[in-house]
Amino acid sequence: MAIELNVAVVALLVLFSSAQSTVIDVVSNYGAKSDGSSDLSTPLLNAWKEACKSSSPTKIVIRKGTYRLSQATLEGPCKSHIEIYIQGTIKAPMNPSAFKDANWVVFSHVSDLTISGGGVFDGQGTAAWGKNECSKNKFCAALPINLRFNFVNNTLIQDITTKDSKQFNVNVLGCNNITFQRFTVSAPETSLNTDGIHIGRSDLVKILDTKIETGDDCVSLGDGSKNVYVERVTCGPGHGISVGSLGKWQGEEDVSGIFVKNCTLTNTQNGVRIKTWPASQPGKATDMHFENIIMNNVGFPVIIDQEYCPWNQCNLKAPSSVQLSKISFKNIRGTSATKEVIRLVCSKGYPCQGVELADIDLKFQGPDGPGVSECSNISPKLSGTLNPKPCTAKLTRIVGDA
Ligand SMILES: *[C@@H]1O[C@H](CO)[C@@H](O)[C@H](O)[C@H]1NC(C)=O
Ligand SMILES: *[C@@H]1O[C@H](CO)[C@@H](O)[C@H](O)[C@H]1NC(C)=O
Ligand SMILES: *[C@@H]1O[C@H](CO)[C@@H](O)[C@H](O)[C@H]1NC(C)=O
Repeated sequence: MAIELNVAVVALLVLFSSAQSTVIDVVSNYGAKSDGSSDLSTPLLNAWKEACKSSSPTKIVIRKGTYRLSQATLEGPCKSHIEIYIQGTIKAPMNPSAFKDANWVVFSHVSDLTISGGGVFDGQGTAAWGKNECSKNKFCAALPINLRFNFVNNTLIQDITTKDSKQFNVNVLGCNNITFQRFTVSAPETSLNTDGIHIGRSDLVKILDTKIETGDDCVSLGDGSKNVYVERVTCGPGHGISVGSLGKWQGEEDVSGIFVKNCTLTNTQNGVRIKTWPASQPGKATDMHFENIIMNNVGFPVIIDQEYCPWNQCNLKAPSSVQLSKISFKNIRGTSATKEVIRLVCSKGYPCQGVELADIDLKFQGPDGPGVSECSNISPKLSGTLNPKPCTAKLTRIVGDA
């Protein structure tokens, strides 16, 4: 009897707590209009304010339709769990000069947030990409980023799309425990500086079952990335998955615990790569593992480049001072679009330590084949089938891309 009563009480509690989440509809509660021209900014901020001060869970709903949003910064800390359930398409102003800074939608200093619902953030970047001057200037104009997560904890973003951002699609900074699941990034191959998801100074970031098509890096891991899991992600077009570039700025934090597993890259300019600047600031990047990766017609599929120097913006004579260690590339198969299939160029000041290559089978079918593997300042531990045979070719200098 006592047990049955307990079961009944638990069932009631579960019912009660799930029914408790208050729903705020931006249209019916705050006068938003899905007419594609009214600004969603004020309704969304008002809904957020109400949700944020509520001491019980709240669900903000943005129903199907097309909304225009000038800019929004949703700030915490908040009192309870908030879910933002987006079914609609939210569009940014087309003109980059409509933005006062490099922000479009920002989530800041919040914890226990869920964003879901199948909705789309459309950055309408087409007109902006031509205005990106990064290939000419060291400090290029900061165009708005579609989604920023600044100092956000315990957060899940699932079934959401970001498309055509004017700059990076997603920037994750200073976060603890943030997961992107069944996430989609979509931008054309020709779009400039539109990294899919960029992570910096964050601990426990997961990117799972995600599809990223873009013009720049699929996932890029900047300084201070720790415990990052990239699993079952498909990339392409774009520039591949990269750690770095590291060592450019003073005060960079170390990188550790990067796990890229079961990913497929198709028609990307690079595969999996670690890049550090020559003549760099000191730093460390360790415990980085790339496993079960399929490459379809990928340029430079496996790269460590400690002489990363796009647009000749650096002094190539001095070696990188970033120490790379504990790195593995395992079970990587498919086809290379370039003759340079495996290129491991480490720093002569800080040779790579503890690098392992196992079961790599990457074919290059071009007329000047077969593919080659070049190395410097590294003596990797080898096992399993390895094609091309590691470290057998003479090093040639290639100019890295962005
Ligand atoms: C997020 O976690 C960090 C580290 O535990 C903590 O200092 C910070 O206050 C948390 N932020 C919020 C918004 O809860
Ligand atoms: C991470 O956040 C999720 C909510 O998104 C939560 O369920 C989980 O317990 C958190 N994990 C850790 C290690 O804090
Ligand atoms: C990766 O794929 C292998 C083989 O299909 C599977 O056994 C493993 O659980 C997968 N791991 C992840 C993290 O997806």
